[in-house]
Amino acid sequence: MKVGPQAVPHVEVPRTFRILTLESSCDETAAAVVTDSLEVLGSVVASQNDLHGRFGGVVPEIASRAHVERILPVIDETLRAARMTLDEIDAVAVVHTPGLAGSLLVGLVAAKTLCVARKIPLIAIDHLQAHVYACRLAAGEDVFPCIGLIASGGHTNLYRCRTPLEFDLLGATIDDAAGEAFDKVASMLGLPYPGGPAIEKAAAEGDPRAYALPRALLNNKDRFDFSFSGLKTAVRYRLVGPGKPDFAQLKLSHRQVADLAASFQEAVVDCLVGKAFLCLRKTGLATLCVGGGVAANRRLRERLEAQAEMEGVRLHIAPPKLCTDNAVMGAIAVERFKVGQFAPLELDALPGVIR
Ligand code: KG4
Ligand code: ZN
Repeated sequence: MKVGPQAVPHVEVPRTFRILTLESSCDETAAAVVTDSLEVLGSVVASQNDLHGRFGGVVPEIASRAHVERILPVIDETLRAARMTLDEIDAVAVVHTPGLAGSLLVGLVAAKTLCVARKIPLIAIDHLQAHVYACRLAAGEDVFPCIGLIASGGHTNLYRCRTPLEFDLLGATIDDAAGEAFDKVASMLGLPYPGGPAIEKAAAEGDPRAYALPRALLNNKDRFDFSFSGLKTAVRYRLVGPGKPDFAQLKLSHRQVADLAASFQEAVVDCLVGKAFLCLRKTGLATLCVGGGVAANRRLRERLEAQAEMEGVRLHIAPPKLCTDNAVMGAIAVERFKVGQFAPLELDALPGVIR
């Protein structure tokens, strides 16, 4: 089939509409049906944690194969939950950036196929912008302009979000993402995958001051970037020296695990809170939206709430179910539909972050 710029259909924007949103950027296969008034009619998330757990992280090839198997059943189940058929869908929106190339492509092919078959428009979603939009959904009111902090397994970014359609990247991790550091440190401590919830649980019984760990770039007031690989290495050196140790052979006491988990978590939280509020002060914005899997962390939420109260900042943190990957946050596509921003059928997967 020939596709080209003319593939963007001209669509009269109806007063009411329903969008099927798809998410397959990493290891969750998800779909949702959302309306023009941001009502969620159905939502399904199929997690792949069981497939990646034994590897201590997401294996891209396994992830894309699992998406292939799950995407159609997930769409079917979502439509069933929404009590509707494809004929009643006005557009399909899909995450095309950032993420694992193979994973993104599965969602893209599914979305394009439905659009061609049904002759309805395609809408492009940026996964990280969608994570910010989860806060808009949870708030039930406009949150723009705001600073957006997204901390997930693959990204740790700070945005100036001017409107739901205009995001400027202000800072990002220069090495590991915060969630990735949680996952790697959990694996060193013999805790299960995903590491974030496991570290949070272990940390609840630990002393966050037990181990002095680095907070890279935190004191640099001219940069909004993060760095977590040194912190990860510092935890490693508290456990073993250089070389290729077998962490499974380590005999760590319950107290050691709890104290290291608490000290590590506090260091990550210090960096996330410190840089987010630095952005707020430097830009003069007074609203902070926080999302991504790491935003499910209770210690981070507590510290953000305390700081927001101290500085008079309006804080919106997505509820834990909307922090980890889901397709409901793809409701950001409603904003694009309203202004007629549709994507051509040659829309490609962009694994890297759009700057
Ligand atoms: O946003 P997300 O579901 O997927 C990506 O786009 O990466 O984030 C997953 C990440 C994982 O690294 C996981 O360990 C982390 O979020 N995470 C947490 C918590 N729950 C999930 N990190 C810290 N504390 C948590 N409670
Ligand atoms: Zn995510």
